[in-house]
Parts: sequence; structure tokens; C-alpha cells
Amino acid sequence: MTCSILVGGAWGDEGKGKCITYLCDADKPDIIARAGVGPNAGHSVEFNGEKYGLRLTPSGFVHTDAKLMIGAGVLVNPDVLFKEFEDLKKYNVKERMCVDPRCAIISEDHMNRDKSSEHLAKKIGSTGSGCGPANSDRVMRTIDLARDIPELEDYITDVSLEVNEAIDNGEDVFIEGSQGFALSLYYGSYPFVTSKDTTASTFAADVGVGPTKVDEVIDVFKAYISRVGEGPFPTEMTQEEAESKGLEEYGVVTGRRRRIGYFDMELAKESCRINGATQIALTCVDRLFDCARVQNYDELSAETKAFIEDIQTETGVPVTIISTGPDLKDTIDLRKELL
Ligand code: GTP
Ligand code: IMP
Ligand code: MG
Repeated sequence: MTCSILVGGAWGDEGKGKCITYLCDADKPDIIARAGVGPNAGHSVEFNGEKYGLRLTPSGFVHTDAKLMIGAGVLVNPDVLFKEFEDLKKYNVKERMCVDPRCAIISEDHMNRDKSSEHLAKKIGSTGSGCGPANSDRVMRTIDLARDIPELEDYITDVSLEVNEAIDNGEDVFIEGSQGFALSLYYGSYPFVTSKDTTASTFAADVGVGPTKVDEVIDVFKAYISRVGEGPFPTEMTQEEAESKGLEEYGVVTGRRRRIGYFDMELAKESCRINGATQIALTCVDRLFDCARVQNYDELSAETKAFIEDIQTETGVPVTIISTGPDLKDTIDLRKELL
């Protein structure tokens, strides 16, 4: 029995999508539950030569025997969810999906308020997905919940009950966080943050799992850093520098160009500490070093190994997963050796 939580280490877009699909395909958990803020997320999954950009469906959908769940803490936009049911038809996502009755619902009004707000859209650089205004209405206790929405009736399930029963029965549960540590409303670069805490403890609460039930916290970092939206970014490089290194990126939800910077060890240490990380997954190592598609640690250059070992030493957390490309196969999995 293992209950794992995967979290973003920095400002989101660390490649959580790739790590989740790899881990769920390899470990085959019984339940894969989505935690985090809501459809402001954009997880990229590349599987069997196809690319998916997911906003609400758990990225572990590729493991087709798992039940898929959305925890009570997550904001749901039914239109986004139903579109993903269509896009992922061949994976039977619709048939496997459970939505907690206590999820709050994003309406057209929330999206309009998000996009038209000078503060959210311009100063913070929000995704415009309605998450901020929806969480605000949730705090005001005026928002509709999933249990009030007839279109969601077929999916309504007590996610917390199912997940806890699965844990008690010795099954494996994988909880997917979204966004990233530095976007946390509590611990991030306030006010340039998202509308909720984004650390492992909140992700556990999102699906209704108590802290004593969690075995592993996997903190995902990219070998460099990206940030979309406004706010401080201590290790940011110039656009020219990012381009010369081939590190340009664009957002999955908004299509905005991402700001790029160097790996930030101080941020990584804080992220591991506050998340209680037990493992680090390091992605896009091939984009910084010449190691595309390498699947064996011994084949990495001395420079690459030194970079990885430095992260391990400084954070005190083992780097168990090293990603060297977008495909599931482009992964070095050191869990057997290091755990
Ligand atoms: P979250 O927003 O944190 O969930 O991350 P994400 O999955 O959304 O990351 P993003 O959308 O930024 O995806 C990063 C892109 O890089 C996607 O196209 C991935 O398929 C790809 N990718 C993920 N891991 C690697 C890697 O190790 N190497 C390379 N070259 N690409 C990767
Ligand atoms: P909001 O969550 O849409 O309110 O956006 C607030 C801030 O968080 C903005 O800077 C967004 O760009 C950022 N943000 C929210 N979700 C994500 C994500 O999944 N990846 C990257 N940035 C995000
Ligand atoms: Mg993303």
C-alpha cells in the first residue's frame, strides 16, 4: 500500500504531466486523484505518439485500470471536463471519472470577472480560467457545488471516502498536485501567486486524506525554471539568453511565452522542506545537457551527474526520477537503487 502525492517544485510547468504518466504507467495505482486549484493548470502528456494538454483530468489516465477522481478542494469547470471526456474517449476517461459532490463550480461569470479584472488579469497575470473569483466566492460561501449541478450527477462520488477505503484495503493511491510551490497563496511570491496553497498538505486535504496516510511526496523540478505571469524571479535570464540555449516555452492554457531562468537551489530547498518531499523528480535534463532519451544513469556526463548530485546534497532529498525527453520511455528511474 502506498499513498503518494506529486507536487510542483517551482512556478508550475515543471513537467508534472510527464512524471505522472510515467509513474502511473509504471506503478499502476488503483486510484489516481486530482488535487490542486482547478482548470488554471495545463499538464502536457505525450503518450503513444499523441500529445494531450489536460486541465482537469488526472494525467495518470493512461493507466486505464485506475479509477480517476477529482477531490473536493478542486474547482471544476464542467465544460472543460466534458471536452476532455471527448478528447480522451479512447481511454474511457468518462466511464472512470468520479467528482466529489463538494467540488466548487466555475461559472461563465467567474471567467469574465477573472479576465476583466485589472488586478487579476494585468497585475498578477492570471490564467483567466475563473479560478481566483471562484475561490473568492467559495470563501464567501456563495458558490454552487458539484452536488447542485444536474449534468454532473453521474460522476458524483464521495472521493474522500473512496480514497480512504482504498488505503485501508491496502491499495495504491496517487494524488496529483497542480501549479507549483512558488505559486502558493501562503508560501509563494505573494501577491503574484494563485488563489490557494499549493503544497502537499493542501493537496492531501483536497482529496480528503489525513497526513498520517501519506507515504511519499514527489517534488518535481525542471533542470531550469520557467514562470508565466508577473512577479519576482530571482534567477531569471534574458529572453536572448533563453533563446540562445534553446529554452523557449509557451503556456498550455494561455499560449503565453514563459519567462526562463536558471535552477534556483534556495527555492528548491524551501520547496522540499515545506512539501516534506521524500523524492525529487528532475525533468528536461536533456534541454540543459546533452542527454536526450538516455535511460541509464551511467550514460550521463560527469557534468550532468554533478548537477544532479548537487541538488541531492543541498536539499537532502534523493533525485529518484530523471527525465531526458517528453516520452514515457525517456526516463531514468533510480527508485530501486535509492529508496
Ligand atoms: P505542469 O504544468 O507542471 O503539469 O507541467 P506540465 O506537464 O504542464 O509541463 P509543460 O506543459 O510545461 O510541459 C512541458 C513540455 O515539456 C511538454 O511538452 C512535455 O511533454 C515536455 N517534457 C516533459 N518532460 C520533458 C523532458 O524531460 N525533456 C523534454 N525535452 N521535454 C519534456
Ligand atoms: P490564476 O491561478 O489563474 O489566478 O493565476 C495566478 C498566477 O498563477 C499567474 O501568474 C498564473 O500564470 C499562475 N499559474 C496558475 N496556474 C498555473 C499553472 O498551472 N502553471 C503555471 N502558472 C500558473
Ligand atoms: Mg503546465
